[in-house]
Amino acid sequence: MVKFEQVSKVFAGGTVAVDNLNLTIEKGQFVVLVGPSGCGKTTSLKMINRLIEPTSGEIYIHDQKARSLNVVELRRNIGYVIQTVGLLPHLTVAANIALVPQLKGWPRAKCQERVEELLQMVGMDPAVYGDRYPAQLSGGQQQRIGVLRALAADPELILMDEPFGALDPITREQLQLELKRLQEQLKKTIIFVTHDMNEALMLADRIVIMKNGSVVQDATPEGILRHPANDFVASFIGRSAQPQAVEELEVKDVMNTAPVTIEPERGLGEALARMQQQRVDSLLVVKDGVLKGTVRARDLYPYLLRNEIASVSEVLSLVPVAVKPDTPLSVAAAKLMDKNTNLVVVVDDHGELKGVVTRASLVGVLLENQKSSQTTVENHVLKAAGGAGK
Ligand SMILES: Nc1ncnc2c1ncn2[C@@H]1O[C@H](COP(=O)(O)OP(=O)(O)O)[C@@H](O)[C@H]1O
Ligand SMILES: [Mg+2]
Repeated sequence: MVKFEQVSKVFAGGTVAVDNLNLTIEKGQFVVLVGPSGCGKTTSLKMINRLIEPTSGEIYIHDQKARSLNVVELRRNIGYVIQTVGLLPHLTVAANIALVPQLKGWPRAKCQERVEELLQMVGMDPAVYGDRYPAQLSGGQQQRIGVLRALAADPELILMDEPFGALDPITREQLQLELKRLQEQLKKTIIFVTHDMNEALMLADRIVIMKNGSVVQDATPEGILRHPANDFVASFIGRSAQPQAVEELEVKDVMNTAPVTIEPERGLGEALARMQQQRVDSLLVVKDGVLKGTVRARDLYPYLLRNEIASVSEVLSLVPVAVKPDTPLSVAAAKLMDKNTNLVVVVDDHGELKGVVTRASLVGVLLENQKSSQTTVENHVLKAAGGAGK
């Protein structure tokens, strides 16, 4: 599908961004390029759709030299998703998604059908969202539309450059799960760039770890966890010499201690602004440190549409599933799965909010704990994550 043959890129000024890269990516693979900032991930990706041209070497797409292809045609046939979503603000969601199909001359009815099909695929009602403008969506929703736009003209190859990097951990995890599900369903070839090893472990069929413009290890997630090629990889996957047995871990060992919150007496406008700013779909409502409930974006809209002044306390919904900091991680994991929720909140004996545990944090931890590969918890979680770690 894509082949790098001795590809190097030296920028003016002498920076060697990519150094003799050899890499073959098969059709239908979900490949994640991962490595520290500046190691050449973005440059490698951009050479595929020719936003950057190699200094030497050759890139092949479907056995054709990329540089022999028409650039415009090439880019229309490759989906591309970046961190700053890049939706056009004056176009509706539907028009944004239909952009490339229209450029390719699809008939209007077919474009519309495709838009509806895609929105339904990620659980966004076309009748509700199709006519909205990007500014009327949360960060997570905007990024979903960015992904749909890349899928719209049904390209076989999709490039993604830290697409979820600007999202809060909970929304990021939702989108990771969705993307993994979409890829398994649609069998697209995806080349995904990130500096986040947990994200790579969760998404990839194959992980390519880069350093200084070269590949240091190229293996399955499990292969990398079991046999890190060298000290650089070992430290990059954050594996301590003696991993703690998963049975011994408690919620406090893995929880995210900085969830996005709001006080109950705040206005709904402020709640919405905070969701948009923090790019989340819901907030935890906290008074004097004590968790009171949650407020979701979809509960705000009716009030905001009627221009009604109301406070967060009036739209409060139930406290989601709660656990204690010293609850065994296995118990929290079982709750996550049972209740089919994306997070459990962590509160102490006084009801004070201490953090949240998300599915992503569990997957990362459990994959690093190979010792206990037979525990029910891990099996549960791996299944929920769409088979990461195969
Ligand atoms: N347009 C450019 N001009 C000069 N140097 C660049 C340019 N783009 C990237 N670089 C340099 O090339 C190296 C690799 O960058 P990049 O591919 O963006 O890394 P990554 O995406 O892994 O963070 C870095 O040292 C970066 O500073
Ligand atoms: Mg980059």
